[in-house]
Amino acid sequence: MKLILLGAPGAGKGTLAEILAARLNIPTVSTGNIIREALSKGTETGLKAKAFIESGKLVPDDVVIGIIKERLSQPDCMRGFILDGFPRTIPQADALDELGLNVDFVVNIEISDEAIIGRMAGRRVCKECSATYHIKNIPPKMEGICDHCSGSLISRKDDDPNTVKERLKIYHEQTEPLIDYYYIKGRLITVDGNVSIDESINAILGVLEEKE
Ligand code: AP5
Repeated sequence: MKLILLGAPGAGKGTLAEILAARLNIPTVSTGNIIREALSKGTETGLKAKAFIESGKLVPDDVVIGIIKERLSQPDCMRGFILDGFPRTIPQADALDELGLNVDFVVNIEISDEAIIGRMAGRRVCKECSATYHIKNIPPKMEGICDHCSGSLISRKDDDPNTVKERLKIYHEQTEPLIDYYYIKGRLITVDGNVSIDESINAILGVLEEKE
């Protein structure tokens, strides 16, 4: 199974991708996580991406396409994968097509900008393992501490309200056109992102079963 999760920043892509990956036994490939890791290790890719990610702008296509080509060529992706945060522009989607990896479905998570702003304000991520929480919706068992590895929970730099506004603007301009791109290809599944995580997972798995 090769899936793409498409949606605005904060729509719940990362949260849903982790649960679906465990259920479907395939890896999640998150360009955001790969870039953040490169940034924290100070690699060349990290340095190239730093100013873009911190200001809420998209990292240039050639950098991200290079990252994704390298990651998808690894053995664990041979059985399938879930792409979280890629593609985000038409040239990225074209590059994925050119790799000859025929994606089975693109899950478009629909959610309003107002709901996103609330989610970003309450998001906390583990400094060590990147597990994601929300102070109200998905709180950790102990405030400020990761349930999985006891790491400290922090806010992402790009979750600052002004950067979120910029990320939403860029989403509407550059990523939203991918909804039509995949609709025309007959690959699009749309689910409501305003519901609980369990409801979203059941909706996605239900549609995938129907289509199989
Ligand atoms: P990336 O890390 O991919 O960020 P994003 O797409 O903006 O998405 P987020 O990670 O912010 O949100 P999400 O949809 O995963 O939501 P989450 O599950 O965390 O990218 C960051 C940056 O990297 C980009 O701005 C760009 O600079 C660069 N980049 C990455 N990929 C790129 C690419 N392909 N091209 C160019 N640049 C790229 O959920 C959000 C919050 O809501 C959490 O607190 C969660 O606990 C909570 N929540 C989730 N689901 C629910 C629910 N159903 N109900 C209630 N709360 C919920």
